[in-house]
Amino acid sequence: MQRKLFQFFIFHFPLLFSLSSCDSGDIVEKTISQETNGHTVKLAAIVSGMSDLSDKYALTLAAFESGNSYALTTYALPQTDDSSLISLVMPNVGSNVSTVELAIINRLRQRVITLASVRMDDYTQTTDTILLNVGTVDVGMFNVIQHNVFNQSCIQCHGGNGGNGAANLNLTEGKAYHNLVDIPSTRKEGMYRVVSGNASQSLIHQILAEGGEEILHYNHTEVLSSQFKDDVSAVRTFIDDWINKLEIEN
Ligand code: HEC
Repeated sequence: MQRKLFQFFIFHFPLLFSLSSCDSGDIVEKTISQETNGHTVKLAAIVSGMSDLSDKYALTLAAFESGNSYALTTYALPQTDDSSLISLVMPNVGSNVSTVELAIINRLRQRVITLASVRMDDYTQTTDTILLNVGTVDVGMFNVIQHNVFNQSCIQCHGGNGGNGAANLNLTEGKAYHNLVDIPSTRKEGMYRVVSGNASQSLIHQILAEGGEEILHYNHTEVLSSQFKDDVSAVRTFIDDWINKLEIEN
């Protein structure tokens, strides 16, 4: 008799029970399905260079919570011809998601580089599909480093204001590659700025990594931290992977 009464209550007052207890499967399911009626984000992009990303990385449309660099949801972009338009829809973006990003992620689904991003806070009033139109992006590893690392964190000292830049190293677009790859250091005798195929021997790796504080007169170990915060070690690894891949190419 008591049990009957209990069931009566669950049936007629589910909200009451969902507040006070969590052990009914039905109610838990209801809560989830309510949360998944979120926003829809639609990406449109023309992507080139995808085959250059090693199999450690994937180009994805990815949802992130704030303060967490591991993606909650990821949709991999399909491999396509360089000039075809990719369109990808992410439905059910819940209120726990703070950004939906076109991002390069690693095998742990950790964000490495954000190429474009939607801040969900800007769309709380919208029920329409949110469009993330990014135009053309080149995700070749060096191009990603040029645009997302050198242009943001390095060229203010290395050539961005005209001239050759600190240590005679110009890292602006069109110049950086030829000033780095297999070019001797002007500061450390016997070292190369980038040694094709060997990140750990490369000066650029050593000065950006922890422990590299004393190698040059200017300490570079914090240069990437201010831009990439929690993602900084993933970015360092991405640069290393680019260097290690060079041997095969050259
Ligand atoms: C605030 C200015 C500043 C920023 C920002 C900066 N650098 Fe430097 N960089 C220098 C200075 C100064 C030197 C020369 C240090 C010395 O003489 O010991 C240098 C030297 C170097 C060298 C050694 C060059 C050689 O020939 O030995 C490399 C490699 C380098 N920087 C890479 C970078 C990269 C990559 C970034 C961005 C992630 C960066 N730097 C950001 C100021 C800067």
